[in-house]
Amino acid sequence: MAVNENLRTPIVSVMGHVDHGKTSLLDRIRGSAVADGEAGAITQHIGATEVPIDNIVNKCGDPSLKDKFIVPGLLFIDTPGHHAFTSLRSRGGALADLAIVIVDVNEGFMPQTIESLHILKRFKTPFVVVANKIDRIHGWEANKNLPFLATYNKQSERVKSDLDNKLYELIGELYNIGFNSERYDRVNDFQRNIGVIPISAATGEGIADVLMILLGLAQRFLEGNLHYDATAPGTGTVLEVKEEKGLGTTLDIILYDGTIKKGDTIVVGSLGDPIQTKIRALLKPRPLSEIKAEEKFQQVSEVTAAVGVKISAPNLEGALAGSPVRVVSTDTIDAITEEIKSEIADVQIDTDTIGITIKADTIGSLEALVNELKKEDIPIRKANVGDVSNRDIVEVTAIEDPFFSVIVGFNVKILPDAKEKLQSTDVKLFLNDVIYRLIDDYKDWVKKQKE
Ligand code: GTP
Ligand code: MG
Repeated sequence: MAVNENLRTPIVSVMGHVDHGKTSLLDRIRGSAVADGEAGAITQHIGATEVPIDNIVNKCGDPSLKDKFIVPGLLFIDTPGHHAFTSLRSRGGALADLAIVIVDVNEGFMPQTIESLHILKRFKTPFVVVANKIDRIHGWEANKNLPFLATYNKQSERVKSDLDNKLYELIGELYNIGFNSERYDRVNDFQRNIGVIPISAATGEGIADVLMILLGLAQRFLEGNLHYDATAPGTGTVLEVKEEKGLGTTLDIILYDGTIKKGDTIVVGSLGDPIQTKIRALLKPRPLSEIKAEEKFQQVSEVTAAVGVKISAPNLEGALAGSPVRVVSTDTIDAITEEIKSEIADVQIDTDTIGITIKADTIGSLEALVNELKKEDIPIRKANVGDVSNRDIVEVTAIEDPFFSVIVGFNVKILPDAKEKLQSTDVKLFLNDVIYRLIDDYKDWVKKQKE
């Protein structure tokens, strides 16, 4: 076997609780490559980092491994957290092919860890759990960049058993959420058991194992999903809508199929009718070696999946993060515009006649919130993307049932005029950036009101 040219790079999302080490892990994957003099091998994309198979195999110190793998490498999405994961969708599923759930081994599971796991369960995405910060275990002797078992075997019995106990706790928590798991080296069948990989993003211990296990998962579970057609019109998902100096509103997208070129006409979703526009420029970050360059970006004439790229085009104000973005021709523009419109509308209209009002920052996160509320049998009157506005408050004020005179906002702000308005009403507002907190807060409040 060897790398199969018809397979695109699998997309890996990094999820986990605040401060548990998402950014450090990605820095380590990038940074150790720089230290190894392989900086050129790692490609920096907009919103993503690509690690080629050669680099991963080198890191694992066994060149013969290369023949075992058929994917070209791994594309890590750098916008970490479950927000990115839920907002990045492709054809109604998750955009990420694989995920890493990172947890501080000394702190254990936290709300966002649990939330990430629930989301992965719903999307049936293959993932690994990374137990980070093993270097903080009392008495741990760091062995820079060694694979996990090699460094584990050098530790004292007390340190080993301390780590083992912490891992058992994580494995127990995973079981409570409905996952069977084991330390990764004891897993025979990754279809039935989740691998837990102890690492230190600070010392690089266990990083090679993470890359290997991800490649293994990609190989086992994704082959059928990774076929792509370089000649097809580009299809991607909007990661972020960003204002850039001198460029105006731009889209950071992850392209997961086909090719996208400068001058192509694209359609992208907005809250109203989808936006149709022509690409003025495709932009990539400058290579690390040119970091001092005046401009942050360099223009390219075309890119092929899977990549992260910035699109500069007119009329992008109002484009939605999480929306599909597709290259169209005069023959396909109407049909594709209609498809994108209904994909976005689907999320918004699936509501009840009475219920609470919900707001979220992206289509994907709104959908996640709708799903979790439905599980709890909490009816939803209206669900849409955006900050809490004056109009939302006015509408909700008119609702007589006090339990539904409620707005629940996930990862959104309240606009200044709405804030003022809110004070003169009985509308109850809940804002949070953890879905489970929001739902618990609402339920607790309802319970209190009924007492
Ligand atoms: P948010 O983006 O804020 O959610 O955090 P994050 O998950 O990206 O965590 P980040 O990588 O920023 O790490 C948080 C803190 O933990 C930083 O101070 C890191 O230096 C530290 N840290 C991360 N990994 C390790 C590790 O393996 N060992 C030790 N000792 N510290 C670590
Ligand atoms: Mg971070």
